[in-house]
Amino acid sequence: MHVSRRKLFAVVAAAGLATSGLAACGDGTQDDEAGGAAGDTIVLGFAQVGAESGWRTANTKSIQDSAKAAGIDLKFSDAQQKQENQIKNIRSYITQKVDVIAFSPVVESGWEPVLREAKEAGIPVVLTDRAIDSPDTSLYVTFLGSDFIEEGKRAANWLVQEYQGKNETVNIVELQGTTGSAPAIDRKEGFAQGIAANPNFKIIASQTGEFTRAKGKEVMQAFLQSNPDIDVLYAHNDDMALGAIQAIEEAGKKPGVDIKIISIDGVKDAFQAMVDGKINVVVECNPLLGPQLMDVVKKVVAGETVEKRILTEEGVFTQDQAAAALPNRQY
Ligand code: AHR
Repeated sequence: MHVSRRKLFAVVAAAGLATSGLAACGDGTQDDEAGGAAGDTIVLGFAQVGAESGWRTANTKSIQDSAKAAGIDLKFSDAQQKQENQIKNIRSYITQKVDVIAFSPVVESGWEPVLREAKEAGIPVVLTDRAIDSPDTSLYVTFLGSDFIEEGKRAANWLVQEYQGKNETVNIVELQGTTGSAPAIDRKEGFAQGIAANPNFKIIASQTGEFTRAKGKEVMQAFLQSNPDIDVLYAHNDDMALGAIQAIEEAGKKPGVDIKIISIDGVKDAFQAMVDGKINVVVECNPLLGPQLMDVVKKVVAGETVEKRILTEEGVFTQDQAAAALPNRQY
């Protein structure tokens, strides 16, 4: 008689060892409870946020390509930016008894009940890209992704340097990401911390653009109508910045010149906008998490220890670096 991967994870989790990453076992025998794949093929259920941005499209492709290359049976779902859909999708993976569940939480809070269900079912959970707001870290094996507070600080650092030695008021408008999501909360906070020392920097308007081009454009139009003196736009992602550029141009202003633009992600279109002088700086956020995720999944299934927090490495790109970097951008 063999012990299935999930049964062993349940025992290990109950013993409080899940936080060390010792989560499951590759027992080398056929798993009678495996979610649809025979024998030792690992089954991974991935509950994606949606397809809201160029970043997300690249992230999805990276996960799909990497699963294929790693020989992992991927069950993929798209929650269309709705937490209730994502919870349903995670529950479906629990019912299907997959070996590992990974997901990028659409918002930070409200995950404990469904993650407890996964834990009780003995299914290890990997957070990718976005964290959850819960003191119970035993609900997931690891969190793989960027430091969004650091990204916000990097965005602010560029601004601080840009206005160094100038004693003038700088009116900033902010396009926030999805309300309640980790990147929206942390990028706002990191940026606010970064500009706090200089009272000349004033955030005169801040609203969600939901990480999409359409909403970024719409909210920027409203900003422009109610604020005639905008100096800087801080957009929490490239898609919103690119939408806002259209609004700025339609209002007869020059993006990147009349209104300086700081963005986050680093998709090709944003690099092109930097080459065109329309975005001033991009703080990179790497969506190519697939290879690292598949490594983590294999380790978890093999019962190996994984770090509780796996950080991705990222840079900052300015207009003078954009043309050289553009041909090498992978997303
Ligand atoms: O969680 C990462 C963020 O989500 C990206 O910055 C944004 O483009 C995406 O939609």
